[in-house]
Amino acid sequence: MRVIIKKNYEEMSKEAAEIIKNLIQKKANCVLGLATGSTPVGLYKELIRMHKEEGLDFSQVITFNLDEYYGLSPEHPQSYRYFMDVNLFNHINIKKENTHLPDGKVPIEKIEQYCESYEDMIKKAGGIDLQVVGIGGDGHIGFNEPGSSLNSRTRLVALDEQTIRDNSRFFEKIEDVPRFAITMGVGTILEAREIIFLANGKKKASIVAKAIEGPITSQISASVLQLHPKVTVILDEEAASELKRKEYYKFVYEAEKRIGLKLF
Ligand code: F6R
Repeated sequence: MRVIIKKNYEEMSKEAAEIIKNLIQKKANCVLGLATGSTPVGLYKELIRMHKEEGLDFSQVITFNLDEYYGLSPEHPQSYRYFMDVNLFNHINIKKENTHLPDGKVPIEKIEQYCESYEDMIKKAGGIDLQVVGIGGDGHIGFNEPGSSLNSRTRLVALDEQTIRDNSRFFEKIEDVPRFAITMGVGTILEAREIIFLANGKKKASIVAKAIEGPITSQISASVLQLHPKVTVILDEEAASELKRKEYYKFVYEAEKRIGLKLF
C-alpha cells in the first residue's frame, strides 16, 4: 500500500484528482469506479476544475458507482444517482449513458438477476481501471457492512445501525434513511486494477488505523484492501493521526519523489 498523508482535505482531494487525471490522459476511455458521500466531494470539485480550466476530457470515460440506496429513485435528492449528477456528471463532458449506478428501484424478485447484470456490464466495459473508495465509521467500503464475505459480489445488503446513524445527517429524520442498499461486493472492488482509498477528519482516524495496520478481517471490510497490489491510501493529517507507521509513510513518499517511481 502507498500511504500518502496530506496536510488537509483540499490537498488530499488534489492528490487523488491528479491520479485520475493522469489515467484519463493515458487512457481516454478508462473505466472509473466512483463513490459518493462527503469524502470525495473535494475530489469531484477538483476534477470539474481540471475539466473547465485545463480541458480534461471525459468524453470517452466510463463510470460505475459502488452503490445505491434500495428504494430511492434516481430523482430522489438523497439518491446516489442524484448526488453524482449534482456533484460531478452535470459539470463535465461525460456522456450520461456512460455513467452507471445500481438501480435502487429494481423489483425485489429481480434483484439477483439485476446484480449479476451490473457485474456483467463492468466486465463488458473491460473491468474497472481505477476504483475510488471511502470508508464508513464501521469500516465498510461500498456498503459492505461488517461480516460481508471478502469474496462478496454485487448484491442487496441491509445497512448497519451505525451506517444508518452516520448517514442520517443527509436526511430530514433518521426514519427516512433507507435500510437496504445495492452494493458492489468486496470481491468486485478487489478486481479493480488500481484503488484509491480516501479518508479525512478525526472521526475516521481510529477505523483507518485498523483498516490499514490491523489484521485483515471481514469485520472491517476495508482491511481487505491490504490484499490488493495497487492501493494508494490518501489521508489528511487528522485521519492519519492514529497510524503507527506515519513517519515511514512520509519517508517513502519523499523517496518516491526523488526516484520518480511509485512504491506500492
Ligand atoms: C459511498 C460509499 C460509502 C462511503 C462511506 C464514507 O458510495 O460507498 O462506503 O464511502 O460511507 O462516507 P463519507 O464519505 O460520507 O464519510
